Amino acid sequence: MKLFLDTANVDQVAEIASWGVLDGVTTNPSLVAKEGKDFKETVLKMCELVPCVSAQVTATDFEGMKKQADEYSKWHKHVYVKVPMTTEGLKTLKYCREKGIRTNTTLIFSAAQALLAAKAGANIISPFIGRLDDAGQDGMALIAEIMEIWSHNDFDCEVLVASTRHPRHIIDAAMLGAHICTIPYDVFTKLPKHPLTDAGIEKFMKDWESVKKK
Ligand code: E4P
Repeated sequence: MKLFLDTANVDQVAEIASWGVLDGVTTNPSLVAKEGKDFKETVLKMCELVPCVSAQVTATDFEGMKKQADEYSKWHKHVYVKVPMTTEGLKTLKYCREKGIRTNTTLIFSAAQALLAAKAGANIISPFIGRLDDAGQDGMALIAEIMEIWSHNDFDCEVLVASTRHPRHIIDAAMLGAHICTIPYDVFTKLPKHPLTDAGIEKFMKDWESVKKK
Protein backbone atom coordinates (compact mmCIF):
# COMPACT_ATOMS: atom_id res chain seq x y z
CA MET A 1 0.00 0.00 0.00
CA LYS A 2 1.28 3.45 -0.90
CA LEU A 3 1.43 6.05 1.86
CA PHE A 4 0.53 9.68 1.16
CA LEU A 5 0.69 12.70 3.45
CA ASP A 6 -2.49 14.80 3.73
CA THR A 7 -1.10 18.32 4.00
CA ALA A 8 -0.28 21.60 2.27
CA ASN A 9 2.84 22.08 4.40
CA VAL A 10 6.05 21.57 2.39
CA ASP A 11 8.26 21.13 5.51
CA GLN A 12 6.06 18.24 6.67
CA VAL A 13 6.39 16.61 3.24
CA ALA A 14 10.19 17.01 3.31
CA GLU A 15 10.35 15.50 6.82
CA ILE A 16 8.29 12.37 6.05
CA ALA A 17 9.91 11.96 2.62
CA SER A 18 13.31 11.84 4.38
CA TRP A 19 12.14 8.64 6.16
CA GLY A 20 11.98 6.90 2.76
CA VAL A 21 8.32 5.89 3.11
CA LEU A 22 6.39 8.62 1.31
CA ASP A 23 4.72 7.98 -2.06
CA GLY A 24 2.65 11.12 -2.52
CA VAL A 25 0.72 14.07 -1.10
CA THR A 26 -2.93 15.06 -1.07
CA THR A 27 -3.84 18.72 -0.67
CA ASN A 28 -7.27 20.31 -0.55
CA PRO A 29 -8.51 23.93 -0.41
CA SER A 30 -8.92 23.83 3.40
CA LEU A 31 -5.34 22.60 3.92
CA VAL A 32 -3.99 25.22 1.48
CA ALA A 33 -5.96 27.99 3.25
CA LYS A 34 -4.55 26.86 6.64
CA GLU A 35 -0.94 27.29 5.42
CA GLY A 36 -1.65 30.65 3.70
CA LYS A 37 1.04 30.09 1.02
CA ASP A 38 0.85 30.39 -2.77
CA PHE A 39 -0.93 27.30 -4.13
CA LYS A 40 1.09 26.77 -7.31
CA GLU A 41 4.41 27.34 -5.55
CA THR A 42 3.43 24.86 -2.82
CA VAL A 43 2.42 22.19 -5.36
CA LEU A 44 5.62 22.67 -7.35
CA LYS A 45 7.83 22.33 -4.26
CA MET A 46 6.00 19.12 -3.29
CA CYS A 47 6.36 17.75 -6.83
CA GLU A 48 10.13 17.89 -6.35
CA LEU A 49 9.81 15.65 -3.28
CA VAL A 50 7.23 13.00 -4.28
CA PRO A 51 5.90 11.49 -7.53
CA CYS A 52 2.19 12.18 -6.95
CA VAL A 53 0.65 15.46 -5.72
CA SER A 54 -3.10 16.04 -5.75
CA ALA A 55 -4.13 19.61 -6.60
CA GLN A 56 -7.85 20.27 -6.24
CA VAL A 57 -9.96 22.28 -8.70
CA THR A 58 -12.12 24.99 -7.14
CA ALA A 59 -14.56 25.46 -10.02
CA THR A 60 -17.86 23.60 -9.70
CA ASP A 61 -18.95 23.53 -13.36
CA PHE A 62 -17.49 21.37 -16.14
CA GLU A 63 -16.03 24.27 -18.16
CA GLY A 64 -14.31 25.74 -15.11
CA MET A 65 -12.97 22.37 -13.90
CA LYS A 66 -11.73 21.54 -17.40
CA LYS A 67 -9.85 24.86 -17.56
CA GLN A 68 -8.23 24.31 -14.15
CA ALA A 69 -7.39 20.67 -15.02
CA ASP A 70 -5.63 21.83 -18.20
CA GLU A 71 -3.72 24.48 -16.23
CA TYR A 72 -2.65 22.35 -13.22
CA SER A 73 -1.59 19.42 -15.41
CA LYS A 74 0.91 21.68 -17.16
CA TRP A 75 2.57 22.71 -13.87
CA HIS A 76 4.46 19.44 -13.34
CA LYS A 77 4.25 15.81 -14.45
CA HIS A 78 3.66 14.70 -10.86
CA VAL A 79 0.37 16.63 -10.56
CA TYR A 80 -2.89 14.69 -10.21
CA VAL A 81 -5.93 16.93 -10.68
CA LYS A 82 -8.34 16.46 -7.80
CA VAL A 83 -11.96 16.59 -8.93
CA PRO A 84 -15.03 16.53 -6.66
CA MET A 85 -17.57 13.72 -7.02
CA THR A 86 -20.42 15.50 -8.83
CA THR A 87 -21.95 14.96 -12.26
CA GLU A 88 -19.88 17.95 -13.49
CA GLY A 89 -16.89 16.20 -11.92
CA LEU A 90 -17.70 12.98 -13.81
CA LYS A 91 -17.65 14.92 -17.12
CA THR A 92 -14.27 16.34 -16.10
CA LEU A 93 -12.91 12.85 -15.30
CA LYS A 94 -13.93 11.65 -18.76
CA TYR A 95 -12.31 14.71 -20.37
CA CYS A 96 -9.09 14.24 -18.37
CA ARG A 97 -8.84 10.50 -19.13
CA GLU A 98 -9.18 11.24 -22.84
CA LYS A 99 -6.50 13.95 -22.63
CA GLY A 100 -4.13 11.85 -20.49
CA ILE A 101 -4.49 14.17 -17.48
CA ARG A 102 -4.30 12.11 -14.27
CA THR A 103 -7.05 12.58 -11.67
CA ASN A 104 -8.05 11.85 -8.11
CA THR A 105 -11.78 11.98 -7.33
CA THR A 106 -12.46 13.50 -3.94
CA LEU A 107 -15.43 13.48 -1.54
CA ILE A 108 -16.50 9.87 -2.21
CA PHE A 109 -18.97 8.69 0.45
CA SER A 110 -20.69 5.70 -1.21
CA ALA A 111 -19.83 2.65 -3.29
CA ALA A 112 -22.10 3.94 -6.09
CA GLN A 113 -20.03 7.14 -6.29
CA ALA A 114 -16.82 5.09 -6.32
CA LEU A 115 -18.11 2.93 -9.18
CA LEU A 116 -19.19 5.93 -11.28
CA ALA A 117 -15.90 7.76 -10.79
CA ALA A 118 -13.89 4.69 -11.83
CA LYS A 119 -16.07 4.17 -14.91
CA ALA A 120 -15.78 7.86 -15.88
CA GLY A 121 -11.99 7.47 -15.93
CA ALA A 122 -10.57 8.48 -12.53
CA ASN A 123 -7.02 7.28 -11.86
CA ILE A 124 -7.64 7.46 -8.10
CA ILE A 125 -10.82 7.60 -6.00
CA SER A 126 -10.79 8.97 -2.46
CA PRO A 127 -13.44 7.64 -0.04
CA PHE A 128 -13.48 9.78 3.14
CA ILE A 129 -13.74 7.34 6.03
CA GLY A 130 -13.20 9.68 9.00
CA ARG A 131 -16.04 11.99 7.97
CA LEU A 132 -18.34 8.94 7.67
CA ASP A 133 -17.27 7.80 11.16
CA ASP A 134 -17.90 11.35 12.43
CA ALA A 135 -21.44 11.11 11.01
CA GLY A 136 -22.06 7.87 12.90
CA GLN A 137 -21.49 5.55 9.94
CA ASP A 138 -18.79 2.90 9.45
CA GLY A 139 -16.16 4.38 7.13
CA MET A 140 -14.07 1.22 6.91
CA ALA A 141 -17.16 -0.79 5.87
CA LEU A 142 -17.29 1.44 2.77
CA ILE A 143 -13.68 0.53 1.95
CA ALA A 144 -14.57 -3.17 2.29
CA GLU A 145 -17.49 -2.70 -0.15
CA ILE A 146 -15.34 -0.81 -2.64
CA MET A 147 -12.50 -3.38 -2.51
CA GLU A 148 -15.04 -6.16 -3.08
CA ILE A 149 -16.36 -4.33 -6.17
CA TRP A 150 -12.80 -3.73 -7.40
CA SER A 151 -12.04 -7.47 -7.05
CA HIS A 152 -14.75 -8.22 -9.63
CA ASN A 153 -13.71 -5.50 -12.09
CA ASP A 154 -10.59 -4.53 -13.92
CA PHE A 155 -10.54 -0.80 -13.20
CA ASP A 156 -7.41 1.22 -13.95
CA CYS A 157 -8.19 3.15 -10.77
CA GLU A 158 -6.57 3.05 -7.35
CA VAL A 159 -8.53 3.23 -4.11
CA LEU A 160 -7.11 5.90 -1.78
CA VAL A 161 -8.40 5.79 1.80
CA ALA A 162 -8.80 9.42 2.87
CA SER A 163 -9.88 11.34 5.96
CA THR A 164 -7.94 8.97 8.25
CA ARG A 165 -7.92 9.89 11.93
CA HIS A 166 -5.67 7.37 13.75
CA PRO A 167 -3.07 4.60 13.12
CA ARG A 168 -5.66 1.79 13.23
CA HIS A 169 -7.32 3.28 10.11
CA ILE A 170 -4.06 2.77 8.20
CA ILE A 171 -3.66 -0.88 9.27
CA ASP A 172 -7.31 -1.71 8.52
CA ALA A 173 -7.01 -0.06 5.08
CA ALA A 174 -3.87 -2.10 4.34
CA MET A 175 -5.54 -5.34 5.48
CA LEU A 176 -8.45 -4.66 3.11
CA GLY A 177 -6.02 -4.28 0.21
CA ALA A 178 -6.53 -0.56 -0.41
CA HIS A 179 -3.94 0.78 -2.85
CA ILE A 180 -3.17 4.08 -1.08
CA CYS A 181 -3.82 5.67 2.29
CA THR A 182 -3.45 9.41 2.90
CA ILE A 183 -2.51 10.36 6.44
CA PRO A 184 -2.43 13.67 8.36
CA TYR A 185 1.02 14.65 9.72
CA ASP A 186 0.09 14.13 13.40
CA VAL A 187 -1.10 10.58 12.65
CA PHE A 188 1.91 9.84 10.43
CA THR A 189 4.35 10.74 13.21
CA LYS A 190 2.59 8.26 15.53
CA LEU A 191 3.22 5.32 13.17
CA PRO A 192 6.93 4.68 13.94
CA LYS A 193 6.42 4.87 17.71
CA HIS A 194 5.90 2.11 20.29
CA PRO A 195 6.51 2.43 24.06
CA LEU A 196 8.33 -0.94 24.09
CA THR A 197 10.74 0.33 21.42
CA ASP A 198 11.54 3.37 23.61
CA ALA A 199 11.91 1.19 26.71
CA GLY A 200 14.10 -1.25 24.75
CA ILE A 201 16.45 1.52 23.55
CA GLU A 202 16.69 2.93 27.07
CA LYS A 203 17.66 -0.47 28.49
CA PHE A 204 20.20 -1.17 25.72
CA MET A 205 21.82 2.24 26.34
CA LYS A 206 21.92 1.71 30.11
CA ASP A 207 23.47 -1.76 29.77
CA TRP A 208 26.01 -0.41 27.26
CA GLU A 209 27.08 2.26 29.75
CA SER A 210 27.95 -0.51 32.26
CA VAL A 211 30.06 -2.32 29.60
CA LYS A 212 31.99 0.92 28.94
CA LYS A 213 32.71 1.28 32.69
CA LYS A 214 34.37 -2.17 32.87
C1 E4P B 1 -8.08 13.77 1.07
O1 E4P B 1 -7.59 13.92 -0.04
C2 E4P B 1 -8.52 14.87 1.93
O2 E4P B 1 -7.63 15.94 1.80
C3 E4P B 1 -8.56 14.52 3.38
O3 E4P B 1 -8.20 13.20 3.65
C4 E4P B 1 -9.75 15.04 4.12
O4 E4P B 1 -9.66 14.70 5.46
P1 E4P B 1 -10.51 15.40 6.63
O5 E4P B 1 -11.83 14.74 6.69
O6 E4P B 1 -9.70 15.14 7.86
O7 E4P B 1 -10.61 16.87 6.27
